[in-house]
Amino acid sequence: MVFLKTDEEVEWMRQSNQLLGMAYGEVAKAIAPGVTTAQLDKIAHDFICDHGGIPSCLGYEGYPATLCTSVNEQVVHGIPSKEVVLQDGDIISIDGCVQLNGFHADSAYTFPVGDVKPEIMQLLKTTKECLYLGIEQAVTGKRLGDISFAIQNHAEKAGYSVCREFVGHGIGRDMHEDPEVCNYGRRGNGIVLKSGMTLAIEPMIMMGRRNVIIEDDGWTARAADRKPAAHYELSVCVRNGKADILSTFDYIKEVLGDRYI
Ligand code: MF3
Ligand code: CO
Repeated sequence: MVFLKTDEEVEWMRQSNQLLGMAYGEVAKAIAPGVTTAQLDKIAHDFICDHGGIPSCLGYEGYPATLCTSVNEQVVHGIPSKEVVLQDGDIISIDGCVQLNGFHADSAYTFPVGDVKPEIMQLLKTTKECLYLGIEQAVTGKRLGDISFAIQNHAEKAGYSVCREFVGHGIGRDMHEDPEVCNYGRRGNGIVLKSGMTLAIEPMIMMGRRNVIIEDDGWTARAADRKPAAHYELSVCVRNGKADILSTFDYIKEVLGDRYI
């Protein structure tokens, strides 16, 4: 069942997304060689709680942390750990959810750590472009497959693969609502998009082949061929003419300055 949100509910969702975006700004300040992913998780956790939010991944289906922190070939759902120390040249994807006013926010961002090879920076750039191309399609009257196609087409034209095991989703009072938003698909397929639908659009794009393996921790998904993967996510509201982006990368942008891509 797809729930359309009222204008008031959309504003509540903007607030929860704003808090998540601010938390990511704090995480961005800390990302550097030598930092552990557990430290990043604590920063996000404490910031969200201090501002009245609920870190809604924590405890979700038994997930043990506030953030997912996925490094290099890890695609998604990497578990923060004090054993994982960021190294110069790594990339790290952070993904997390906040609940505020009874509504969830969901957003993800892949950061370079120190000096990252140009070919990997290109993967990050293309994945972010996929996200915005998908969002461009999230308008009244288009179909779900238009979003999926836009993402897949851009990624594959660049020579990358689209992860198929994990997908975007509706979002609202539940972290995961209908519909599923695949990052691959056909133009003109799927349900018609309506004003007030709120979607978390989240391309996970892989430099190598698209096969993933789940590690023994039961969560971490990594590229089978151990090539890098990137993940960007924003929650949006479908509107006539132009999607309303509810999440924000603005606080990350402020921290990264001219390193923001
Ligand atoms: N943010 C993730 C998503 O897009 C949620 C992580 S699932 C968790 O669905 F179990 F790790 F919390
Ligand atoms: Co999501």
